[in-house]
Amino acid sequence: MSITKAAIINALSYVDDPDLGKDLVTLNMVDNIHIDGNKVSFRLILTTPACPLKEQIKNACITAIRHFVSKEAEVHVDITSRVTTHRQDGSNILPGVKNIVAVASGKGGVGKSTVSVNLAIGLAKNGAKVGLIDADIYGPSVPVMMSLRQKRPHVIQVNGQNKIEPIEQYGIKTLSIGFLAEETQAIVWRGPMVSSALRQFITDAEWGELDYLVIDLPPGTGDVHLTLAQLVPITAAVVVTTPQEVAKADVVRSIGMFQLPQINVPVLGIIENMSYFSPPELPDKKYYLFGKGGGQALAESFHVPLLGQIPIVEDIRKGGDEGMPAVLLPDSPAGKEFAFLAQTVARYIAIANANVQTSKTLSAQ
Ligand SMILES: Nc1ncnc2c1ncn2[C@@H]1O[C@H](COP(=O)(O)OP(=O)(O)OP(=O)(O)O)[C@@H](O)[C@H]1O
Ligand SMILES: [Mg+2]
Repeated sequence: MSITKAAIINALSYVDDPDLGKDLVTLNMVDNIHIDGNKVSFRLILTTPACPLKEQIKNACITAIRHFVSKEAEVHVDITSRVTTHRQDGSNILPGVKNIVAVASGKGGVGKSTVSVNLAIGLAKNGAKVGLIDADIYGPSVPVMMSLRQKRPHVIQVNGQNKIEPIEQYGIKTLSIGFLAEETQAIVWRGPMVSSALRQFITDAEWGELDYLVIDLPPGTGDVHLTLAQLVPITAAVVVTTPQEVAKADVVRSIGMFQLPQINVPVLGIIENMSYFSPPELPDKKYYLFGKGGGQALAESFHVPLLGQIPIVEDIRKGGDEGMPAVLLPDSPAGKEFAFLAQTVARYIAIANANVQTSKTLSAQ
């Protein structure tokens, strides 16, 4: 009996994406099916670049085709990805940007900028198109962390309009308040000046098509957060914390802010930074200097995932100071943790997007 396209589609409808909980055909993840005798090939379009489950899903496809269609089938799966979005606002605010991820913390100095920079570069290293906005008015640190001190963005003409061109570095596009003001000057800017500069980064900058735009927010819960949340359709926020018990109240405040009706941004999860110390000569040893399990307990109490635990290591501090983010050192323990964090964040965004689509469909019925 010859193999048909319909039989292949039927077989693949028995394979679920484990994260999204639905089958590959319903999720529109299969196309380009070709059949030549016993040879079957198709394209599988996953929702995150460098999906950690890709081998598992591919093997499940091969098994399903051999089981439901033909034991003799020789299957070739061409895996690509297309990052999803749940934006349907049709607005002209960042129209080409699929997902906007705000990085927040209740408290200063917990590693928000470090996480933002490494997360953004980690997503780009997986093949995504990524932008980064440094919205921290009090201490813009992206210019230093990205080795872009003294750089100024250019203004370019797009369709007859002046647009700010984000600066490209390490595979991502970036803009920072620090590009507009001298390091000593930014801090004395008045609130309205900062709000208007930030607004320009969003409305008057040429970001083009992006899968993810990461926004490094200032610490705490202030005006900038409100301005941004009202201006930008933020897909989700991630909250960075350190494991100490005292950090708890700040995280609670930060999550509370996102849940305010006038902000209303879903919290994707918590990132615990400075979780443990591993001496370079004993990389398998973990010393929990600030206590163990704090991030996990917080995540559980808010029913959100703990997206990552980043160790305290010199590579991270040094990378920040020297403008060479740790994620660029793929073999270092810090580089591996940040790469894993980027995968995890991408994965939870895909899950959140699939759930929004489902709930929209359900509420339309
Ligand atoms: N996991 C880590 N290991 C070692 N050093 C770290 C780690 N995370 C952050 N740091 C260092 O701690 C300092 C503060 O980090 P960072 O600037 O990212 O914090 P922040 O939350 O953005 O601070 P702010 O509130 O000032 O914006 C920096 O010097 C950074 O290099
Ligand atoms: Mg910062």
